[in-house]
Amino acid sequence: MSHARIIVDRDFTIADVPPRLFGSFVEHMGRCVYSGIYEPGHPEADDQGFRKDVMALAKELGATVVRYPGGNFVSGYNWEDGVGPREDRPVRIDGAWHTIETNAFGLHEFVEWAKRADIEVMEAINLGTRGVDEARALVEYANHPSGTYWSDLRREHAAAAGTSEEPFGIKLWCLGNELDGPWQIGHKTAEEYGRLAQEAAKAMKLVDPDIELVAVGSSGKQMPTFGTWEQTVLSHTYDEVDYISMHAYYQEHDGDAASFLAEAVNMDGFIDGVVATIDAVKAAGKHTKQIDISFDEWNVWYQQGVDSEDQPEQVAKEWKSHPRLIEDKYSVTDAVVVGTLMHSLLRHGDRVRIANQAQLVNVIAPIRSEENGPAWRQTIFWPFARIAELATGEILRLVVDADQQHTERHGDVDIIDAAATYDAETGALSLFVANRGLEEAAEVSLDLRGFTASEVLRAEVLTIPEGGDRHTANDLDSQEAVGLVPLQGVRLSESGQGESGQSGAVTMSLPALSWAVVQVKVA
Ligand code: AHR
Repeated sequence: MSHARIIVDRDFTIADVPPRLFGSFVEHMGRCVYSGIYEPGHPEADDQGFRKDVMALAKELGATVVRYPGGNFVSGYNWEDGVGPREDRPVRIDGAWHTIETNAFGLHEFVEWAKRADIEVMEAINLGTRGVDEARALVEYANHPSGTYWSDLRREHAAAAGTSEEPFGIKLWCLGNELDGPWQIGHKTAEEYGRLAQEAAKAMKLVDPDIELVAVGSSGKQMPTFGTWEQTVLSHTYDEVDYISMHAYYQEHDGDAASFLAEAVNMDGFIDGVVATIDAVKAAGKHTKQIDISFDEWNVWYQQGVDSEDQPEQVAKEWKSHPRLIEDKYSVTDAVVVGTLMHSLLRHGDRVRIANQAQLVNVIAPIRSEENGPAWRQTIFWPFARIAELATGEILRLVVDADQQHTERHGDVDIIDAAATYDAETGALSLFVANRGLEEAAEVSLDLRGFTASEVLRAEVLTIPEGGDRHTANDLDSQEAVGLVPLQGVRLSESGQGESGQSGAVTMSLPALSWAVVQVKVA
């Protein structure tokens, strides 16, 4: 049995919980759009061809904002191809994923889908093959009310499709995607990108001054240009943009589960590094405004050393529409890691104000669907959905005193990883906590300062199901093998405050390899 003590103090807060921290991502890639969110002819399709079963799961997931249409795809995409009468839309090659893009689904469809799903749109522009003019035209098309070439064209297209002619009112825009990456169509140096992003941002804000802009940051901490890229890009764009992006994907390497389970340590360090770089540019440029972070791609993604039916191809081999790409099947271990990555995002909620798990459905996603078949929740759905539901109010700064676990990649780490929020309106204190230990249960005690606990409102845990192991996953034939189950034995001390440091106000025992949420009523 391992042990951890967590101190929670009413006065030690980090920030309000940013609603956009629970974002997702829909890319024209694999089966995310076609046979994911959109499949006319499916028994569950609505009048626009949107899958109602997938939309219901997206709502249950609690996704608040969805980035669209890419990803690598956007760097070769002409947004005009996806608007207007379907029969006039061109069929194109998507070089990024070696796929045929029919353009049957485009901007109007996505905006309508998001409206029905009650999700904010985060639109990415192409700064790979295109530039300032197409960017400002897109903002005019989307957001200008009427009486100009592009806004009247939007109205005309909407009227023909039977949808609202009103402006889309898209607030959040990404200035391209991963342009630091040599794989990106239209890859650029930091100087080239910094100047282009600055001019595109300027022109876009001249069309609509209320938009918020995200500059492209490094596509990973491992990039050789990480740090200098952010510094150069921000030195050009600091006045024009509001956020800089971060991307990170994690996987287990060579069966080293202990290191994989501690990847939130890597994420913590990555975020701290970007915050330091932003603030150094702020100081050197004598700026007063604060730039924040849009962590607009993150997840578990098995990219290397994978050779199994469960993790199919990364890039299509033949030219076809919506091939199966990177449909990773997620295990119990992956779900625990996803929980801890979300803890890291919450712990940095004062600077990470937007985050998008990549992606929403089928492509490295919490939701899976089959063409003409069912849709279901992967294991990683559960920590996302519970945190999105219960993390409200303010994020609390925790002090964790835990037994250590040695890892090859991150040194000694806490066996317990946690984050917490307190909602003054409801009086709910929510603790999100993972036991990274593979062998032992962990006894966790919560010391409350400035709070008195009176009732356990929720206590649920995701762990290895009976008869399973750490690789157990949900799939077509077994859609509910892994999920949240009641966490038994959460105890409140009699005083509700902890007994002079001996035992906490709340104590619980977490099974080996588990992620849990415990919500208590406090005053
Ligand atoms: O999410 C899959 C891909 O990962 C995106 O297209 C790209 O931006 C990133 O490298």
